[in-house]
Amino acid sequence: MRMYDIIRKKRNGGELTAEEIRFFVDGYVLGTIPDYQASALMMAIYFQKMTAAETCELTMAMAHSGDMLDLSAVRGIKVDKHSTGGVGDKTSLALAPMAAACGIPVAKMSGRGLGHTGGTIDKLESFPGFTTALTTEQFINNVNRIGIAIMGQTADLAPADKKLYALRDVTATVDNMSLIASSIMSKKLAAGADAIVLDVKTGSGAFMKKEEDARALAEEMVEIGKNAGRKTVAVISDMDQPLGFAVGNALEVKEAIYTLNGHGPADFLELCLTLGSQMLLAGEKAADIKTARHMLEQVIADGSALRKLAEFVGAQGGDSSVVYHPERLPQASIQKSVISSASGYVNRIVCDEVGSCSLILGGGRETKESSIDLSVGLVLCKKVGDAVKAGEPLAVIHANDERKAAEAEKRFLDACFITAEPPAKTPLIRETLS
Ligand code: URA
Repeated sequence: MRMYDIIRKKRNGGELTAEEIRFFVDGYVLGTIPDYQASALMMAIYFQKMTAAETCELTMAMAHSGDMLDLSAVRGIKVDKHSTGGVGDKTSLALAPMAAACGIPVAKMSGRGLGHTGGTIDKLESFPGFTTALTTEQFINNVNRIGIAIMGQTADLAPADKKLYALRDVTATVDNMSLIASSIMSKKLAAGADAIVLDVKTGSGAFMKKEEDARALAEEMVEIGKNAGRKTVAVISDMDQPLGFAVGNALEVKEAIYTLNGHGPADFLELCLTLGSQMLLAGEKAADIKTARHMLEQVIADGSALRKLAEFVGAQGGDSSVVYHPERLPQASIQKSVISSASGYVNRIVCDEVGSCSLILGGGRETKESSIDLSVGLVLCKKVGDAVKAGEPLAVIHANDERKAAEAEKRFLDACFITAEPPAKTPLIRETLS
């Protein structure tokens, strides 16, 4: 078999066989297929697309290119949740303890990643002492003992995807539906859960700006999951404005704690209850959505979800008292209100621009090597549809540098549109596919 023939076949619109896909993935990981041939194939796939069968083969080949985590020693049905990412998306921080408090074993691998804030692991490191550097044995023991553990992604989880994603990033081949679906699902399958609940975001702060693209991605991922024998559900949710009010690492942790205390923002709570209900159904802890939702509301009302968070933080070396004293989380030295110059209604908040504000403040990584400031970010005072008067704050910027605060303020004001009439309401949850 020759890589040249595989590239030419795809360039001409042919369908690759399972053997050809495996030949490419194995050779690329081994280094016998160079970057320039892999780039050519990615570009051919970008233009010619892949069939559902090719997408499944690529996913399986990438999933098996490294370790497949064996979670059989964890008792019960393991349900993983994955978000395609967005601004202010702190869902795992609240949802993982909520699901665990309802009896779902949460054995999660999370990443740091690039973006406007850090990943779940960075956010959790706002708890002094917290670590995700667990051995597989500690990870499994913690899940069996307290029902929840989060571990950093090991280098050998789907290494083919790691290498290919980095290549796609610099060759303008990221935004192809099949390549995104196989990239996400290869890591989820390798991470070993029995069932997967996907939160596919749509809107200006999401990968998939258009709802029909988000639906197509969700359908592809559900199909891959089913073919791999994992129960898979996808929820399509709005990312046209930040989720909740807080954007920034420690600020999002604080908002997750408030939510577990029963004082969370309505949209964020709704998303946690929707995704959590799907997790409880997939994990066979509830027979229907209504029961599942009630169970999740109950673990917030009786404090057991908050206690679960404290137990989890403590079990991974963190200071669990901070869960009950969130004012001890890292705090920025400057808090600057962004004031509205107009009266009316918030019509639109360009979501990815709010993400850029957090990045400007130092809350995210621009390159893998960048360090992040856990304390900075923004807290919205108004959401889309809210009435605002001239002179009222639209948001509060948390910064450690006056110049960066001024830059973020200008950027935020440019991203926030006030109109005389309120905008039409858009639903947070667009659809659930299973
Ligand atoms: N996230 C991933 O993990 N892979 C992609 O290709 C896009 C988003």
